[in-house]
Amino acid sequence: MTRIAQIIVAAGKGARLGSTIPKQYLKLAGKRLIEHTISSMNSTNLIDETIIVVAKEDKFISDIISHYKDIRIVIGGDTRAKSSLEGLLSLSKNPPDIVLIHDAARPFVTKSTLVDVISNLKENTAVAPALPVVDSLKTIDGVKIDRKSFFRIQTPQGFNYNEIIEAYNNLSENITPDDDIEVAKLSGINICYSEGDPNNFKVTYPKDFERAKNMISLNDYIATGNGFDVHRLTTGDKVWLCGVPIKCEFSLIGHSDADVALHALTDAILGTIALGDIGDHFPPSDPKWLNASSKEFLLFAVSELEKRGGTLQHLDLTIICENPKIKPYRQSMREKLSELCKLPIKKISVKATTTEKLGFTGRSEGIAAQATATVKLPE
Ligand code: CTP
Ligand code: MG
Repeated sequence: MTRIAQIIVAAGKGARLGSTIPKQYLKLAGKRLIEHTISSMNSTNLIDETIIVVAKEDKFISDIISHYKDIRIVIGGDTRAKSSLEGLLSLSKNPPDIVLIHDAARPFVTKSTLVDVISNLKENTAVAPALPVVDSLKTIDGVKIDRKSFFRIQTPQGFNYNEIIEAYNNLSENITPDDDIEVAKLSGINICYSEGDPNNFKVTYPKDFERAKNMISLNDYIATGNGFDVHRLTTGDKVWLCGVPIKCEFSLIGHSDADVALHALTDAILGTIALGDIGDHFPPSDPKWLNASSKEFLLFAVSELEKRGGTLQHLDLTIICENPKIKPYRQSMREKLSELCKLPIKKISVKATTTEKLGFTGRSEGIAAQATATVKLPE
């Protein structure tokens, strides 16, 4: 059986992208970019061992790999080639037959690209995915170059392990190669090109990151969640609804501030991510939540949604009671919800209805609220 190892080089600083953290750790749809790369690279089930090469000062990788089994971390160097070499050397105790070396900054590599590289290695020592140049090619002075003799080279690049180690040993100190196939070529190895993929681009500049975000969001799905809550009324001087105090001859009874509208909205949002209900997270039995502001519950649900890469799209709330009259407060309720959820006001609907004096709401024994939340979530 051919043993295949993969090295993901992630020790770069991402200077051309210019973000505050290295580009491989920017968040895309709730996950760090490199996590997308790792899952794409694991799409074949053909890989026996994974090495990730990171910078000495890396602060992110240990958290990330705690979600994966069998990934080894190796410290890289100040050039890509040095990072590749560190990865290769780390495999020398138990050398694989084949090694794939991939840029962490290419999250969209497909199974078909990987299978192509691997199958080309049956007959070849060094393989890289390549794409034809489609734009016209010119020198800086405007002289046309025949684009048919050029290819754009991507990763993962695949090698016979012993041969690429040997090639690195032969590499002269004053050469800084762009990639590993260049090292193979310089050492006199015959190289082979497999079919590249335009979507397997390297996130290099800010526009590439935008493109990556757009590509990921093509797989987003829409989820809706509903929430329903009731609180009992007693005599008093105000009720809280949607975080807005409403002066009236009642107050709502509850462990927290009893904001029945915010509770229904919180449950609706929790419903979109199947995260149980408000009682699971803020149990009434816990004295910590005594007289708590229900805004906290809503903000918790929104932040859990955001942690999963979700975004709130729309809220629709119906408050069911005879009294107080909701209409005069509707706009301030929408404004408060807009502020809390960071959602434009046009995407927030607050409605009210009575039950024609029927039932507990009709007798003003309690107020009910029901809500629908619509969100977008990554696949
Ligand atoms: N890389 C590496 N070690 C280095 C330099 C780069 O492991 N010393 C990795 C990067 O993390 C990236 C891949 O090599 O996944 C391709 O390199 P590049 O796109 O140039 O990334 P950066 O060097 O991080 O970006 P920049 O050149 O803009 O600083
Ligand atoms: Mg670089």
